[in-house]
This record gives sequence, C-alpha cells and structure tokens, in this order.
Amino acid sequence: MNRNEPCWCGSGQKYKRCHLDFDEKIAAFPIDYKKDQCRPPHEIIKTPADIEGIKKAGVINDGALDLIAQNIKAGMDTLTLNDMADAFITKHGGIPACLNYEGYPKSICISINNVVCHGIPSKDTILKDGDIVNVDITTIFNGYFADASRMFMIGNVSPETKKLVEVTRECMELGIAAVKPWHFLGDVGAAIEKHAHQNDYSVVTALGGHGVGKQFHEEPFVNHTGKKDTGMLLVPGMVFTVEPMINMGSYDVFIDADDGWTVYTKDGSLSAQWEKTILVTDTGIEVLAK
Ligand code: MF3
Ligand code: CO
Ligand code: CO
Repeated sequence: MNRNEPCWCGSGQKYKRCHLDFDEKIAAFPIDYKKDQCRPPHEIIKTPADIEGIKKAGVINDGALDLIAQNIKAGMDTLTLNDMADAFITKHGGIPACLNYEGYPKSICISINNVVCHGIPSKDTILKDGDIVNVDITTIFNGYFADASRMFMIGNVSPETKKLVEVTRECMELGIAAVKPWHFLGDVGAAIEKHAHQNDYSVVTALGGHGVGKQFHEEPFVNHTGKKDTGMLLVPGMVFTVEPMINMGSYDVFIDADDGWTVYTKDGSLSAQWEKTILVTDTGIEVLAK
C-alpha cells in the first residue's frame, strides 16, 4: 500500500506513520524454511477495532463460564447447563457459536471423563460425584468470536484424577507463557508437550488450537506438540486459542460413529482440557477469553 494512504488498520493515520515499519519488519524477518518457519498472512493480523470486538465477545463468554462455575454440581443433566449458557449469552446480545456450527446440535460442548471434546449436552447425561467435566463455550458478538473452556471437578475427585486436571491447566498456562512476539508458534507446543510428558501424560494431536476473529476457526492451527523455533512467526495483533487436550493414557482418539461429534480416548483413559483466547501484544500477550 502507498505510504501516504490511510493505514489498513483503520487508525486514520497515514500508513507511513502507522503500520509501515511493522509490515516491513515482518517482510524482513529471517525465516528458516527448513524449520517449517513461515510469516503470518496479513489477513490474520487484527486491527484495534477487531481486538475490541473480540474482547466484547470475550466478556460475555467469560460471564457464561462463570455462571456455569456457580451452578454445576452432581445430579444435574448437561442439557440444563447448555440452556443456562445459551440464555445468558442471548440475554447479553450474543450468539452461541456452536449451535448449528457445521451441524452441531447444541449451544456449548460438555465433555466428561474419557470424552476428549465436543461432548453433546443431553437430558440423559447426569453429572455424578468424581466426574471431571470440560465446559467449552464460544460466543459471537457483533460478528466477532471468543472461545474458552474450563474444567470442573464434581464432588470428590481422586487425587490422581485431580492431578490430570491441574497438570492440564499448567500445560495451557505454560503454552501461553511461551507466546512471545517475534518468536515462533512451535514454542507453544514444545512447552505443552514437555510438561505433559514429564507427568507421564500424552498430548492429543488430532485437534488443536486455532486463530479466532470474524470466524470460529482461522489460521493458524495451534499444535499442542512440536519443536521450538518452528512454525508461524508470532507478531502483535494475532489472536488464537491455546487449548491442550491431555490424556492419562494414549493420545489416540476416535469420533462417535452415531452422533459424528463426540471425541473419546481410544483406550478409555481420562482426558482434560483448558482453553483461553489470547492476543499477541508488543510485549507479550493479553487474555481475551478465559
Ligand atoms: N469450542 C471448540 C473449540 O475450541 C469447537 C467446538 S465446535 C462444535 O474449537 F461444533 F463442536 F461446537
Ligand atoms: Co477453540
Ligand atoms: Co472452545
């Protein structure tokens, strides 16, 4: 774009006074193709208006997860939690992104014990003492998406199961801590994989994190395993999720043949997941949904 044109980010300033240096820094950044390094495509760099939009969706999404946290307990069916989240999001002017997404039948995902992700809420699924439960909610507000999930432990959970939930949270936080501008996305998977393996757990590789913006799933695909200094260059303005799925047994998974959605561990072992949506900033990261 011309140096004197208004910047693509919508600031109203001339390009040369705004994002020109930034674009030149990306273009000049040394990329090692042997390490699978690549530059981020321009379309996934968010403008200040985009970031404000995602933030607002994140506030509603956080509120829905807080509401679940206050109400979830043994004896409850998971459709009740689905409807609670749906009503909250709708009341605040949002849309539950999962509903009808590629044919998904409910508003949120609730995944219990050996269900890895994409568990479909149902009147017939009753939470019981000792269960570990992932509740994954995505909200659309004003055209922008925000995506997060948390684990909940129902009643008395065994110490070894509690450890899986806690280590998985640490995996997410270590993955997020590895996100630094002008470093590479592979650092995230490397940090997650290291911590999971140190605890004798496995990392699911069939699914990963993803860019978030005006669409549910955008570039980049965020691997939860991998090598440092590989993959996409991280630059300020990128927004994506970190959402490791960690299994007590093997990393192998399969999809329920009947509903086409529910993802299970192949060996029946327990699985946990935590997810946040984050923004890469000039100095580190900012959490947009948690
Ligand atoms: N929220 C999930 C994610 O973290 C996606 C759920 S898609 C659905 O990417 F269709 F199953 F809802
Ligand atoms: Co996600
Ligand atoms: Co999610």
